[in-house]
Amino acid sequence: MNDPLLRWREEFPILANTNYLVNHSLGAMPRKVRERLAEYAEMWATRGIRSWAEGWWSSPVDTGNLVGKILDAPENSVVMHQNVSVIQGLVASCFDFMTPRNKIVYTDMNFPTVMYVWEAQRRRGAKVVSVPSRDGVGVETQDLLDAIDERTLLVPISHVLFQTGFKQDLEAVIAKAHSVGALVMADCYQSTGTVPFSVRELGVDMACGGSVKWLCGGPGAGYLYVNPELRDTLEPALTGWMAHAEPFAFEPGSQRYADDATRMLHGSPAVPALYAAQSGYEIIAEVGVKAIREKSERQTTRFLEGALERGFTSKSPTDVSKRGGTITVQVEHAPAVVKALAARDILIDCRPDVGLRVSPHFYTSDDELDACLDAIKEIRDEALWKPFAEQASVY
Ligand SMILES: Cc1ncc(COP(=O)(O)O)c(C=O)c1O
Repeated sequence: MNDPLLRWREEFPILANTNYLVNHSLGAMPRKVRERLAEYAEMWATRGIRSWAEGWWSSPVDTGNLVGKILDAPENSVVMHQNVSVIQGLVASCFDFMTPRNKIVYTDMNFPTVMYVWEAQRRRGAKVVSVPSRDGVGVETQDLLDAIDERTLLVPISHVLFQTGFKQDLEAVIAKAHSVGALVMADCYQSTGTVPFSVRELGVDMACGGSVKWLCGGPGAGYLYVNPELRDTLEPALTGWMAHAEPFAFEPGSQRYADDATRMLHGSPAVPALYAAQSGYEIIAEVGVKAIREKSERQTTRFLEGALERGFTSKSPTDVSKRGGTITVQVEHAPAVVKALAARDILIDCRPDVGLRVSPHFYTSDDELDACLDAIKEIRDEALWKPFAEQASVY
């Protein structure tokens, strides 16, 4: 079939010799990242300290604006941090939990790093409520809504679940939270770049994620959107001189917060990571998340049907509107199967309880999907996973 998005393949070197289906974990590196990192090194080498004024200092906001285009966020409302964990900690540091509104509500299918940060807030007085999944696929929206009440301060939940690809009904969660005066922070790591959404239209209070996966931006580039009206009321305790109204006044004493997005920063930015991340954002914005999603819906359906036809089961939602870009396939000895596939240059991964995780992206061909399915079947049917059973897993 004619697939116009396949023309992007030449922008991603690894696709020349690898069947790359692990985009929910680490998106392929754009060819231009090499140039951007060389540009960064050249600046440091030749412009020295002047580099700060020539782009480095403003890079957390400038880079945030590139992500902001994908999120449909207002200009200068997204800032860059290292990762989601730091962002959750920074947001947690904005709140006082020694008040009646001290409840944090999320689900037991959140990415664990988010839970680790909020569980730790119990020692500061937070009451953490984790809504359980009934089926290990997703969490009933009504169960989540029922847990959100007048004592709820914040609902920090995943938009798309990392294990199964289940897509949470953010609209319903935001409507319920706002009706009782609670805030919502969406972890969009598994949706940004593959599921279209608009932070403006959603009216979500905060959104965050990283660039390692669907954005093809690599490690070290987490993004935080905060609705500007809310932002100006927040005073993060995890702060630093970049969040000061006049950083170069070097005022001693307590923080005097900036009244723009830099209020949500702390210390010096991870400049090389931001340079590396930009090419991915530019490509995703140019391809368009709507077009990426159309293809993803078609290909994830093809893959899921192909897996079922070959006798596998899956914990991913069969209703395409209820899932993101990942399909899971249950198979015994999943870690060894992943390694057997890697030896054939077919890259996927696996997670406890769900089995294999497989995700095409806009640069994936249908043939690659079929080849992956055939290989999984052959490895299962002929026990070709056995030689890999003792090898340690590293991702
Ligand atoms: C939904 C989600 N949140 C967070 C993370 C990772 O968090 P961090 O950026 O702190 O490494 C992942 C990574 O796998 C994820 O899938």
